[in-house]
Amino acid sequence: MIRKYRIGNPIATDSVVKEIPVEQDNIPYFERNDEAKELTFSLDKDDKVFGLGETVRGMNKRGWLYTSNNSDEPNHTENKHSLYASQNFFVVFSKVRQFGVYVDNPGRVSLDVGYTSLDKLIISFEDFDADVYIVEGKSVIDIVAEFRGIIGQSYIPPRWAFGFGQSRWSYMTADEVREVADRYKEAGIPLDMIYLDIDYMERYKDFTVDESAFPEFPKFVDEMKARGIHLVPIIDAGVKIEEGYDVYEEGVEKGYFVKKENGENLVAAVWPGRVHFPDFLNDKARAWFGNKYKVLLDQGIDGFWNDMNEPAIFYTEDHLNEVFDQLEEYKGKNLDIKSFFEFKELVGSIDNYPEDYKRFYHDYKGKKIRHDKVHNIFGYNMTRAAGEAFEKLSPDKRILMFSRSSYIGMHRYGGIWHGDNHSWWAHLLLNIQQMPAVNMCGFLYTGADIGGFGSDTTEDLVLRWTAFGIFTPLFRNHSAMGTRRQEMYRFDSVNVFRNFVRLRYALIPYLYSEFMKAALGDKMLFKPLCFEYDDDRSAQVEDQLLLGESIMLAPVYTQNASGRYVYLPEDMKLVRMRAFDDYDEEVMSAGDHYVEAGLDEILVFIRKGHVLPLTTPEKGLSDGDYDMTYICYEADPDSYELYTDDGVSRL
Ligand code: GLC
Repeated sequence: MIRKYRIGNPIATDSVVKEIPVEQDNIPYFERNDEAKELTFSLDKDDKVFGLGETVRGMNKRGWLYTSNNSDEPNHTENKHSLYASQNFFVVFSKVRQFGVYVDNPGRVSLDVGYTSLDKLIISFEDFDADVYIVEGKSVIDIVAEFRGIIGQSYIPPRWAFGFGQSRWSYMTADEVREVADRYKEAGIPLDMIYLDIDYMERYKDFTVDESAFPEFPKFVDEMKARGIHLVPIIDAGVKIEEGYDVYEEGVEKGYFVKKENGENLVAAVWPGRVHFPDFLNDKARAWFGNKYKVLLDQGIDGFWNDMNEPAIFYTEDHLNEVFDQLEEYKGKNLDIKSFFEFKELVGSIDNYPEDYKRFYHDYKGKKIRHDKVHNIFGYNMTRAAGEAFEKLSPDKRILMFSRSSYIGMHRYGGIWHGDNHSWWAHLLLNIQQMPAVNMCGFLYTGADIGGFGSDTTEDLVLRWTAFGIFTPLFRNHSAMGTRRQEMYRFDSVNVFRNFVRLRYALIPYLYSEFMKAALGDKMLFKPLCFEYDDDRSAQVEDQLLLGESIMLAPVYTQNASGRYVYLPEDMKLVRMRAFDDYDEEVMSAGDHYVEAGLDEILVFIRKGHVLPLTTPEKGLSDGDYDMTYICYEADPDSYELYTDDGVSRL
């Protein structure tokens, strides 16, 4: 059962698609304090709090302050309060009670989950305006399904997007892209996507292609397609200010860019230098920008990633001028303890400067609204622009789309990737822990940068991360400029990488079936153990996942480990996999085990009464004409229901 309560006069976000009448009585569970702009709930010792989507820390969110304030944050360390997303849905549960809460407010919201006070959950608002939904059900899984039922069906990518993708910031030329494809082919590692990062564009202008680096682009797209590879270009939120650039000129002429109080277009800067931001919240501007994707669709492109859409701001012209003016005061001065730190802060304050987000306005649903009030739905609406346009531009065929910034509601238009992680073991664990949380909020097509984006990676990290990544819907190896190269063919263990990626393809019938069941049935693909097992130990497990109906994963995420402890909530069958056609099976009893796992092995646990179907890697992306093998644990192969379709038609 879902009940909706209204505080003040909230700005609509279109995240909920079902009409629900507003209740007139008090919000259950919470104490409301209008003066402090807070809702408070007393947590019992045994209450667990799961959800909140893409945030730092563990699966159980107790013990930290999470602030929904979409941020261009490249260091996902546990001291941070905000990452790129605002996904304000969580479930509180114990053996005696359970309920879900969705806080719908597009501005800054703080979720203090036992941070200020160990046993208090305090939701505080900058503006005390929100729709608050209280979701009740028999179990956590029911509550999540109920919630998902009101926010609309999750985005479904084309099936080929379940293949493997290689990315790098940036492959600078068509020849460099060809080389990546050649080397993967030589290595015998399947590859379905190569991502184009910002340098494919002409001077970082959206919807352009640098002709000198990528000559005859449509031909190149065809050439790669003939090799079975989709090129997936990045699109950034900022539009370069440049005379003669059609997107800039049209946006200015039609008034589609965000404006300052005085009516002038905001001048900010991102990769291209000075840019204007399209007003994605304005229906007309959104339709206009969405239609621009046609430029690339017409050249054969069928997938995109939307970036820097929090939006990231390197500087605004106004703040930069303020900083330059103030810097004058420091010239020739003996910087002492106070002035030195002030100086440092002044210079360091230019990017993503909080005050800048209060300097511009949107034309949203017929009203002029200051950006910070609707900040968290900016990236959502950029991706919505694309998603709405694709329905018209590509009515029959699904288009791959995922975004960095998000808000609940965006899950209908695209997936997400988990942003600029680092080549740190802790971020492999974070990847594992974020998966169920984003699923709860409707985001199913997701994955992190495998191997890590920032910092230099190591071969064992890429191996272990790939061993987990083969199970995530978005399976992409991506890394930042200046870091150690991490394409799989560069490492000694190329045979192991080949086996892992081929195993991924062999698993696609299962992964795609489970994904589709989750998307069509409002289910989670990844679940913490305690969502299905109610023993006390399961509630403590933060590094194992249930994936779909049949399997449990226990990835190794520490360096130099020859295995790991695994907790089995019931008897399970361990399948130790080296390749799709090379594995051992062993039934293990419920309880704790130390399980060896070499760098060339992947641990898959089959649940009792369940089946893991496997095809050959060559057939993984086919329409259902599989050569199937079934690994069963006390189950009949026929009991597994495969989902098949043509993989591209819209549903
Ligand atoms: C941002 C993105 C990253 C990309 C880079 C350059 O940092 O998160 O994935 O490679 O920009 O476009």
